[in-house]
Amino acid sequence: MSSGAITLNKQGFVRFLSRIDRQTRLRSIRTGVTALRNLLAYPHEDGRGILSSCPDEEAVSLHKDVLLSELDQILEAKTIERANYYVKRLEKGIERVKTGKINDINLSRWKEYSEILTDSLWVMDKRDSSGAHLASYWGNFIPQIPHQMMMRYTKKGDWVLDAFAGGGTTLIECRRLGRNGIGIELLPKVAREARNLIEKEGNPHGVISDLRTGDSRSLNLWPILLDHSQEQVQLLIMHPPYHDIIKFSNNGRDLSNAPTTEDFLKEFGEVVENAGSFLEKDRYLVLVIGDKYSKGDWIPLGFHCMNEILKRGYTLKSIVVKNFEDTRGKRAQKELWRYRALVGGFYVFKHEYVMVFRKTGCSAARMGGKRRPL
Ligand SMILES: C[S@@+](CC[C@H](N)C(=O)[O-])C[C@H]1O[C@@H](n2cnc3c(N)ncnc32)[C@H](O)[C@@H]1O
Repeated sequence: MSSGAITLNKQGFVRFLSRIDRQTRLRSIRTGVTALRNLLAYPHEDGRGILSSCPDEEAVSLHKDVLLSELDQILEAKTIERANYYVKRLEKGIERVKTGKINDINLSRWKEYSEILTDSLWVMDKRDSSGAHLASYWGNFIPQIPHQMMMRYTKKGDWVLDAFAGGGTTLIECRRLGRNGIGIELLPKVAREARNLIEKEGNPHGVISDLRTGDSRSLNLWPILLDHSQEQVQLLIMHPPYHDIIKFSNNGRDLSNAPTTEDFLKEFGEVVENAGSFLEKDRYLVLVIGDKYSKGDWIPLGFHCMNEILKRGYTLKSIVVKNFEDTRGKRAQKELWRYRALVGGFYVFKHEYVMVFRKTGCSAARMGGKRRPL
């Protein structure tokens, strides 16, 4: 809930609304709603037990602006039937929590979730650098990406696997949102630093953050999950190297060292198979990737990777195009790139993709070489 939240005593609030609802004259409804609106807009001594000072089970936290606009809608109603309809709708929205299978979004109060994006174009000017989030790991994604994905595709307490954990952004965000996180990172030093960073983030929900060093193509995830009494994860996030755009190491198992695009795609496909076999059916795989240029030609790496996933029992749910922020290094070279683009007839990359897939096929989870059908 955002900073504009107001905490109400659920019973007191609903009682007051049903009293308004019983009024038979539009004027009386308006009088009651005006009194309520004044109390919420300018909280003062409250003899009706509507406001609550402690967020406990009896309390409900609502977005103040949304609530006030709903009250305004009642006040603007021209007929008693319309006003009653809005009052009842508000009452129901408070009393009844309506969530789907894959997230905790209360659809009865959907207007409260203004921070959740539903458009396919994301223009984000600033990275979230609060808490343990650092921009210092070369090639990390902005925390808003795993944040958005977890809000849409997981519930509290679910398990999230990041097959290319890097600086630990996903696992830090998991802690904030109350999701358990498992990460795999090839490079021991990177993994060690990420673990330290993740530990710096508070753990208010008491979730597990487990970052392992290994090759996502072949690391056996079965014993790792069993360590936590789990068999599957509910969200798989993949933010691989964009082939050789950034070299992460000299390690031959590092996807950024794949000799050709074909080799990169083959290795990427192996990660999809290995990590994806532990993703619960009907749950989501998120791929964050950009395209690249090679010898003046655009290589649609994102769409090639998309095809690798689609071949393996997934359907495409959405493609989000997200802007790139300029890194410090790139900013200095901006003019040079513009000149090169004008000379070479190409466009400078300013976007990457967040692709969302649903696992529809039933793949087999790998356990120590043997495969176990799920
Ligand atoms: C684009 S970065 C991921 C950054 C991450 N999302 C973050 O916010 O910090 C890709 C990461 O994949 C790692 N990597 C490359 N090949 C790998 C492999 N075969 N298995 C596991 N990790 C690998 C690289 O070392 C690098 O840290």
